[in-house]
Amino acid sequence: MSLTVALGADHGGLLLKDELSPWLQQRYNVVDLGTRTLDPYDDYPDYAEAVARAVTSGEAQRGIIICGSGVGACIAANKVVGVRACLCHDTYSAHQGVEHDDMNVLCLGARVVGLELAKELATTFLNAGFSGEERHQRRLNKVLSIERRSLQGGRGE
Ligand code: RB5
Repeated sequence: MSLTVALGADHGGLLLKDELSPWLQQRYNVVDLGTRTLDPYDDYPDYAEAVARAVTSGEAQRGIIICGSGVGACIAANKVVGVRACLCHDTYSAHQGVEHDDMNVLCLGARVVGLELAKELATTFLNAGFSGEERHQRRLNKVLSIERRSLQGGRGE
């Protein structure tokens, strides 16, 4: 049980998180970053940022964020430099996104997938590793270059 997973959800994802969390805890180290209470006025960016920062700080190797659709959480998490978050509701993307694109945060929509599929998506994501193949590393380097240039506010290297 070496992998540490940061887990978070807003009110739209809370019920799925609470079902998924004990199951994940039997297999991985889980850092639950909330929410813990059903507050329809809470905001997904707060939980997405917490999970994203846990991953970029090294507190966790991977993150899983759940909101109603998974879309808002994905958009928010990708604003944190170093995060490669994707919304995956099929198992092919859940492992290929890691193998080819080094995805480090999985986003799920609790209003879209049920518990059993969420377990399969999480397992598939967490068990996958970046292939490191030359073409994938080259493409990842280009993605990282876009990130660097955006931070610099220009187009130069
Ligand atoms: C909350 O109602 C909902 O908008 C949120 O959970 C998420 O689906 C946003 O993308």
